[in-house]
Amino acid sequence: MDRTQVFIDSNKDRFLNELLELLRIPSISADPAYKDDVNKTAEVLAENLINSGAENVEICPTAGYPIVYGEKIFDDSLPTILVYGHYDVQPADPIELWTDPPFEPVIKKTEIHPEGAIFARGACDDKGQAFMHVKAFEAMVSENELPCNVKFMIEGEEEVGSANLATFVKENKEKLTADVILVSDTGILSNDTPSICTGLRGLSYVEVEVTGPNRDLHSGLYGGCVANPINILSKMIASLHDENNHITVPGFYDKVIELSDEERAEMARAPFSKQDYCEALDMDDVYGEEGYSTMERGSIRPTLDVNGIWGGYTGEGAKTVIASKAYAKISMRLVPDQDSDDITKLFKDHFESIAPQGVRVKVTPHHGGEAAVTPITSDGYKAAAMAMQQTFGKRPIPIRSGGSIPIVAMFEKELGLKTILMGFGLDSDAIHSPNEHYGLFNFYKGIETIPYFYKYYTELVK
Ligand code: BES
Ligand code: MN
Ligand code: MN
Repeated sequence: MDRTQVFIDSNKDRFLNELLELLRIPSISADPAYKDDVNKTAEVLAENLINSGAENVEICPTAGYPIVYGEKIFDDSLPTILVYGHYDVQPADPIELWTDPPFEPVIKKTEIHPEGAIFARGACDDKGQAFMHVKAFEAMVSENELPCNVKFMIEGEEEVGSANLATFVKENKEKLTADVILVSDTGILSNDTPSICTGLRGLSYVEVEVTGPNRDLHSGLYGGCVANPINILSKMIASLHDENNHITVPGFYDKVIELSDEERAEMARAPFSKQDYCEALDMDDVYGEEGYSTMERGSIRPTLDVNGIWGGYTGEGAKTVIASKAYAKISMRLVPDQDSDDITKLFKDHFESIAPQGVRVKVTPHHGGEAAVTPITSDGYKAAAMAMQQTFGKRPIPIRSGGSIPIVAMFEKELGLKTILMGFGLDSDAIHSPNEHYGLFNFYKGIETIPYFYKYYTELVK
């Protein structure tokens, strides 16, 4: 891969500029106002794939946003790597908390990224990371060092639950035949502590609505006499955790696979400083489920969190009112072997059952997805570890992540393929938050590392 590395080195500025062009298009999949921009991003990406040497590039329509497909097939006897990523991004709000406009990328140095980082929505999640694959591919193709077949599948609906990807995968099993799936949409522990993500949590996301009186009421005339939906909702939510921060939904933990003491001891070897963690977030302590470390709470344990809560008067000054309705959005992060549909049902039954007289409760499920784990004994994991060893000079640590990429479990079910999660972001990169950024070190390190994955994977399975 020597010539490939030289090619990468001499094209760094161009690679960066091409990424910045993608980042300037606000491909927010959640907001229909950006429909044309999301579609435009697919076109620019497809164009770039063609220019990078991919063949049979297609913008595959779905019932939602299109999937960008491209490939380079040499020979059926060679292994095939299927690269997955997403070109859609999260909404940018609260926009006033961005130091620079979210879709006008700028490069700035930070303490953690002394070489500079690209500040823009999608810089890390996932345009920057997906684009590393396109550029690593371009380098290998142009230097005639691509050792195997490649297929790209980059979607535009990941941030809204990949609703149409499953249909696409089911209808295109032949086209997507591969030996392994490679994804960069996760992170490493730090720039000098490489790690590979070996697990993702599942997700059940619900919205709840509590209705009291049929209209908003004067809080003096009616206060004390009617169920106040906001008071009630707060109480109901508070009751979902006990004094040890265990979740109280009956049956919630029934299918949770507990890790062995050995596995937990292995996990505890990953470096973690509670002090640094707290300092970075300006908190005096961590908080969570009794009996588990912070690393465990954020990866191998299921959670229940309110993501948003609203109702009543929230404008300037005071308005004396009892609202008719109160709402909350709740996410439950799940671990193997919890099933997201089962958990959604358990939650709904429980939440309805704890509603006191005087209110009505409605629970509406949003998207969900299953957890996934990758064994570290697979050829794919080994190849990723060897690749990172090569470029970081250190053996990566296997780490389970708390985030979710529901399609990983779907790929396993529909295509029978394991996914290798070789991402290069940092937890501090503020994905989904204001001032999202992605280190230049990480962007280039990713482009340099990916070709070695191809090389070692091909050598291992040949
Ligand atoms: N790339 C993230 C997931 C992620 C980030 C996993 C960092 C591990 C480490 C992905 O784009 C994402 O945000 N997923 C959503 C779920 C989806 C169904 C909206 C999530 O985890 O909230
Ligand atoms: Mn992502
Ligand atoms: Mn995301």
